[in-house]
Amino acid sequence: MSKARVVLLPGDGIGPEIVAATRRVLERVGEFEFTEQSMGGCSIDAHGVALTDEVLGACRESDAILLGAVGGPKWDTTDPTKPRPEQGLLGLRKGLGLFANLRPVRPSPALVEASPLRPERIRGTDLLVVRELTGGIYFGESGREGDRAHDDCAYTVAEVERIARVAFEAARRRASDAATGRARVTSVDKANVMETSRLWRETVTAVAEEYPDVELEHILVDNMAMQLVSRPAEFDVVVSENLFGDILSDEAAMLTGSLGMLPSASIGADGPGLYEPIHGSAPDIAGQGVANPLATILSAAMMLRHGLESPGEATRVEAAVDRVLEQGLRTPDLYSGAEAERRVGTEEMTEAVLAAL
Ligand code: NAD
Ligand code: IPM
Ligand code: MN
Repeated sequence: MSKARVVLLPGDGIGPEIVAATRRVLERVGEFEFTEQSMGGCSIDAHGVALTDEVLGACRESDAILLGAVGGPKWDTTDPTKPRPEQGLLGLRKGLGLFANLRPVRPSPALVEASPLRPERIRGTDLLVVRELTGGIYFGESGREGDRAHDDCAYTVAEVERIARVAFEAARRRASDAATGRARVTSVDKANVMETSRLWRETVTAVAEEYPDVELEHILVDNMAMQLVSRPAEFDVVVSENLFGDILSDEAAMLTGSLGMLPSASIGADGPGLYEPIHGSAPDIAGQGVANPLATILSAAMMLRHGLESPGEATRVEAAVDRVLEQGLRTPDLYSGAEAERRVGTEEMTEAVLAAL
């Protein structure tokens, strides 16, 4: 079999540090043909745009894409005529049709104490956020007219149906994998206020009829923000539109102890998937060698499982991450000062994962 072609998009800030670490882990578990490309602020500096047609083309030709993170103060501007790093990421998601973003939230047993929430609340948490990724307010018409600005939020029935199916299928698969029989989808919206949310709720309810074995509950997004920290262990699959999913998944990341722990997979109908940690470029710690590489390493595990048909290697990588955490290694974002913990940087954490493999 030919080697899988993987495009690496290190991006900005801590992106290059965590992608370099993850590349070493991938090289340990398999053989890949890597190409590194610029996307984000680094591409603005080199080409004037966050995503060039060449890079989009290279991604399209690949088997999978691994992204670090993009953005940073250097390119922060409120001028709508200036390019922004984030446009590259949005262009990539839209250009590749990656409408479903899977963000699994399963605190590593060793980290139950690392969350700011009490361990008894966290224990047993194993949920999957299914975030719609190519619609809604992110991609509606927007603009400025003098002292007024607007961002339109729109969804079609077809867009809601396809993301709802991803959620119901995932719930079904998770129930059979875990043999718990528990299959539940929680659909998040703001149907008491927004028309797009009423269309969302109606459509998800209709799709649910195809999945009689999966229980469906609807919940308003403000209430969900609260429930997520008060009873996280009771959720299974959580499906939501683009903006709500963005916000709720950063919140959910803290259940695992740090934003630096949460991986994601962005997938579409066919073609390569994009695998990325949910966090950003962390400009406040960039270049210091202290970034937590585990969310990116776990994203690579999702890439192995979902994109490269290597579930065995994916499981090995995830087990290695669990092991280094059990050994007490903690990057500063996870470090609590407990006696069994050892504070390490990106390099030492990566070495430990390699050793555990
Ligand atoms: P951020 O996620 O970059 O950082 C939030 C906080 O979490 C910071 O204190 C940071 O140090 C910490 N953090 C994040 N990842 C970490 C890691 N791996 N290890 C240790 N600590 C970590 O969010 P922000 O500061 O709001 O955004 C910074 C830039 O990143 C912005 O330009 C934003 O647009 C961009 N961003 C990009 C992506 C992406 O590329 N996928 C995602 C989110 C934000
Ligand atoms: C994420 C990020 C992006 C988003 C930004 C950088 C465009 O926050 O991947 O969660 O809002 O989708
Ligand atoms: Mn986000």
